[in-house]
Amino acid sequence: RGKRPAGAPDKKLARPVTKVGVVGAGLMASQLALLFARQLKVPVIMTDIDQARVDKGVGYVHTEVDKLLAKGRISPDAANRTKALVSGSVSKAAFADADFIIEAVFEELSVKKQVFAEVEAVVSATCILATNTSSLSVTAMAEDLAHPERLVGFHFFNPVALMPLLEIVRAPKTDDAVLATAFETAKALRKTAVLVKDAAAFVVNRILGRMFGEITAAFDEGTDAVTADNALRPMGLPMSPFTLLALVGLPVGQHVQESLHAAFGDRFYVSANQQRLIDAGKKGLWEKNDDGSQFVPEETLALLS
Ligand code: 3HC
Repeated sequence: RGKRPAGAPDKKLARPVTKVGVVGAGLMASQLALLFARQLKVPVIMTDIDQARVDKGVGYVHTEVDKLLAKGRISPDAANRTKALVSGSVSKAAFADADFIIEAVFEELSVKKQVFAEVEAVVSATCILATNTSSLSVTAMAEDLAHPERLVGFHFFNPVALMPLLEIVRAPKTDDAVLATAFETAKALRKTAVLVKDAAAFVVNRILGRMFGEITAAFDEGTDAVTADNALRPMGLPMSPFTLLALVGLPVGQHVQESLHAAFGDRFYVSANQQRLIDAGKKGLWEKNDDGSQFVPEETLALLS
């Protein structure tokens, strides 16, 4: 207790975070907006490419706060305050006076670089830029920045409200004040931060990548996926592999596997069947009956080979 996490610079270097920007208003971004508003108690602005997406993101925060209120997990005052702190805009100009921006947009290097170029055009020279990337190189993301020293990896896990871990990624140019602020912010968010190297998929997703790779490989080789996934349930895993893959998102999971395969070759498997599910717009292998029980629809099985 009181000890600095391994590799964290002196906390005296940390700068205050008084206003947060979240780029993206999808599920991950919305979970982040909720967490930052609730724990840091500072204004949080979400942006996305159109008003409908922005409204959906802000709406998610309101709905989740209402659920916490209904369960008695948050006071009425805190609920009102949290809701009032979160707003949305289609323009990144809304980030002008923010000091910490985190992106959770599509997992593609060119998209993230474009986002950060637009953000850099409106924020101050000391505003911290954080990426929630699962598997892309933070070093590559910093390449074209005017201030590469301000970029840090800040990688959360699904579901953000429940998972205590946060991977903080230092790129070669990330400066100590930025890293110190990242660690202090993690503490204020009540997450356990670990410093990881900027290597493909960092640490946690390397481990998950082996599990997802092996089960999808068995599946592609002809093992009955439904039986296999069910059989793994009692092994002490909090969720079966395919339930977890659906929570993470099939496309995100596939991007992680591709990054790991590119970096480490055949140690990491990229599944053709998983790609077929993604191409067909499936959210996962399982679907839920009205009573909450899980089943695999015939049409999903028909997609697989
Ligand atoms: N969002 C908000 N609240 C949620 C939630 C969610 N997605 N899922 C569950 N909850 C709430 C429930 O409503 C419940 O609330 P209550 O106590 O008021 O009823 C509470 O959390 C507990 O829910 P459960 O009873 O379902 O809890 P479990 O004991 O099953 O635990 C879990 C849930 C912690 C999510 C557990 O299943 C787990 O650890 N699963 C594995 C998650 C994991 O490995 N995540 C990492 C994925 S990798 C990743 O995200 C990285 C990316 O880069 C790919």
